[in-house]
Amino acid sequence: MDLKNLIKARKGHAEPLSSDVQLLESGLLPGFEALPTVVLVLEKRTLRVVFANPSAESMLDLSRRQLTQMMWPDIFSSADELLLTIAAIAEHRFHATHLDAVLERPGHEPLHVHAIVGFLESAPDYVLLELFENERHLRTDREERIQDLTAVNKQLIRNLAHEIKNPLGGIRGAAQLLEFELSARERDELREYTQVVIKESDRLQTLVDRLLEPHRHPHIVGDVNIHEVCERVRAVILAEFPRGLTIERDYDVSVPDLRGDKEQLIQALLNIVRNAAEALRERISQGDARIELRTRVARKVTIAKRLCKLALDLHIIDNGPGIPDDIRDRIFYPLVSGREDGSGLGLTLAQTFVQQHDGLIEVESRPGHTEFQILLPLE
Ligand SMILES: Nc1ncnc2c1ncn2[C@@H]1O[C@H](COP(=O)(O)OP(=O)(O)OP(=O)(O)O)[C@@H](O)[C@H]1O
Ligand SMILES: [Mg+2]
Repeated sequence: MDLKNLIKARKGHAEPLSSDVQLLESGLLPGFEALPTVVLVLEKRTLRVVFANPSAESMLDLSRRQLTQMMWPDIFSSADELLLTIAAIAEHRFHATHLDAVLERPGHEPLHVHAIVGFLESAPDYVLLELFENERHLRTDREERIQDLTAVNKQLIRNLAHEIKNPLGGIRGAAQLLEFELSARERDELREYTQVVIKESDRLQTLVDRLLEPHRHPHIVGDVNIHEVCERVRAVILAEFPRGLTIERDYDVSVPDLRGDKEQLIQALLNIVRNAAEALRERISQGDARIELRTRVARKVTIAKRLCKLALDLHIIDNGPGIPDDIRDRIFYPLVSGREDGSGLGLTLAQTFVQQHDGLIEVESRPGHTEFQILLPLE
């Protein structure tokens, strides 16, 4: 049966069936109730939701009462694969099966889930649906990987930077001495070369200093008002890009102060907002470049494997072209840049600073919408 016919056939059976007794008598519901995973039970002929546990209510943001008045296709506009699987279970083709699905709902973010669909031995008119939010698993894995990598990177960069820094002073000094030793006539001819050595040494010196920056500054901790940080960054960027760029603020003034190093947080945010402004060059010349700074309070979030009761949730959103595909997965790595004159350190530093505050940076990007998210624990 194809999907459309399947839904049509199910909708034809919209009348509640008398057999819910079967489910109640199965004695399964109290167990499902207590499970931390999302559990739903559907009447298999109608796809009517007959049971939803509290985890399901919170994941779907619908009360049990609302849910039990709905058919599955009323909740999700596209869950084709899942529906076909439910049909297959209903027709006894499998006993239980696993699949990954994307559940789309009008007006909501799509839900990426891992679903287990099962046949209920003691209530054969029903199918059991267990859903796990995929993103959380993926995110924890990804966070762990990022943290391991940054730790290795940090050590490597620090050693490398020191190795470069030491002889660099010598090279620059020697070029200066050489220039000094040249006769007046030679100096006119050869100064061009000594200047290349001096200038390039200076450029490398700046690079090395930036690489060592997060390790050099002591971590000064005080009460930081995040909106002061945002305002400072906004002012700096608007001074650098005085025309064609709007920086909007959407602040939640109830965000409490956080404990941290204000200068580091300013630097982190500045690097991110400056990237956005740089990516917006084309729109700036058209006059419709837009960056938004949004603050919110987040409750009960996991940051670097720690459950955090209260966190600052800061978003930096721009309407630029998006992060180039070829570097998207690597933008937080040092020396990765999509710009010709970029050194590829801005985001590495931003990430280091945020991690020094036990926080997390993430990014989502598509053409027309790039969104960086910084989560910082507030207690
Ligand atoms: N908002 C954004 N929109 C599009 N691309 C972005 C955005 N933010 C970062 N990028 C891409 O990520 C790259 C890395 O950024 P990063 O700040 O680390 O280095 P950089 O800007 O190239 O050099 P710098 O060290 O001067 O900051 C950028 O070169 C750019 O290609
Ligand atoms: Mg940058």
